[in-house]
Amino acid sequence: MSTIDLAPTQQLPEALTGQASPSPLQFAFTKKTGAHANHGKRESLNGEQAHQMLSKQLSQSKASKLPRAIYIHIPFCRVRCTFCNFFQYASNQQMIDDYFTLLEQELIAKSRYPWTQARNFDAVYVGGGTPTDLSPEQLNQLGQLIHRYFPLSDSCEVTLEGRLNRFDDNKFEAALAGGFNRFSFGVQSFNSKVRRAAKRLDKRDYIVERLSQLTASNRATIAIDLIYGLPHQTPENWQQDLQDVLDTGVHGVDLYQLLTFGGSGLQRNIDAGREAVPLSTSDKALMYQQGHQFFAQNAFRQLSYCHWANGEQEQSRYNSLAKQGAEILPIGAGAGGNINGYALMQTRDIDTWRAGITENNWAFEQLSLPANNAQLKAAITSACDQGLIDADKLPHGRTLFEHCEPLFKAWQTNGLVSLTGQQAALTMAGQFWSVNLANAMTQYLQMYPLTNSQ
Ligand SMILES: C[S@@+](CC[C@H](N)C(=O)[O-])C[C@H]1O[C@@H](n2cnc3c(N)ncnc32)[C@H](O)[C@@H]1O
Ligand code: SF4
Repeated sequence: MSTIDLAPTQQLPEALTGQASPSPLQFAFTKKTGAHANHGKRESLNGEQAHQMLSKQLSQSKASKLPRAIYIHIPFCRVRCTFCNFFQYASNQQMIDDYFTLLEQELIAKSRYPWTQARNFDAVYVGGGTPTDLSPEQLNQLGQLIHRYFPLSDSCEVTLEGRLNRFDDNKFEAALAGGFNRFSFGVQSFNSKVRRAAKRLDKRDYIVERLSQLTASNRATIAIDLIYGLPHQTPENWQQDLQDVLDTGVHGVDLYQLLTFGGSGLQRNIDAGREAVPLSTSDKALMYQQGHQFFAQNAFRQLSYCHWANGEQEQSRYNSLAKQGAEILPIGAGAGGNINGYALMQTRDIDTWRAGITENNWAFEQLSLPANNAQLKAAITSACDQGLIDADKLPHGRTLFEHCEPLFKAWQTNGLVSLTGQQAALTMAGQFWSVNLANAMTQYLQMYPLTNSQ
């Protein structure tokens, strides 16, 4: 039992509990506290010390029991979308070809480490940028290299991310022959007016037709991303987007809340009065609700607070592993990973990255030391992501759950969870605020740590 004498729930700060409101979905908090749960700053190593530590970890054949995945980054896009924070380099054939040659070298070099060969990988994700901008030959070659050089579990999910623009049958066939078994396309919105304003290529008719063809072929899992809160989106055209998800037969869909940030084309357009002020968080909450209800009515399986599957095929394994704190081997400029608990982000600058490859001395921004209570933090992120905080799945089980009950009760009062026994199930409102809840629970445990005796 917890011995800590906590303040009454109303004395916990609203930043943790959310505020009481007749519409917690819209007003429990004012803003999402980031794209992902953030567990605070970690100590890091730099320079030579960091490199020595990374090579020490990679030379160990003793691997943790955690599930593991590979992330391969392709940092090129043909056009920069107005809302996006991931854009790195404009596609240029020569640059992509040079990059690809180096990427092969990095992939092979990293496959040879004892750490890499110690256990099977459960998921591989080739993300970007726009990996579907690679040529058919490159897609095929990349898939083959992944299968040839890495130990993969039998049911390993191998995803290619990108977009439908110019993703013709040649590319699809080449990627399938290379062993990709899942495709994740950023659609963002089907509506042509919304798409044009966001600088998305192609119109709705092409997107609907191409997606329908790909799913009907039954050759791989097809998932898409949609964003809610983009300029010109309305409840009506959003409803049509949701209907298009159903009608195209895609196996999985992510609904992302639009996050705006300074420096984006969208923000510049808003500042210059060329674009209307985007929807408020409370209006975006209603769009989330619309999506949530639509998928429930159509018997989709909910895999996380923002991801739904139609049928049994879609698992979205990479995303769920990443949120559970899996080991992730990073490959490519700008790829992030986690090796034996050491987190690293490879440099985004291609020239610096290139120099690192030629010397087998990987160029990364910094190497963060394993987090205190990494397992606990991953369990919190994963539970909030999946919408259920279950005592039996938390480190310290019931002791931790009871220790957090003052917070859970405040959440319940504010309409964010429903408490039964040793479980706190996030309501729809709680799911909309999932990242805030994960951050709040982590902060609560920093303010009121579990003592050793508990
Ligand atoms: C790294 S991007 C790659 C997607 C792909 N290149 C495309 O064009 O669709 C992955 C996803 O991040 C999401 N995303 C990008 N910018 C966002 C923003 N400002 N707010 C919310 N989601 C965003 C989009 O849904 C996108 O599909
Ligand atoms: S959404 Fe995709 S294509 Fe558009 S800029 Fe971002 S990563 Fe590139």
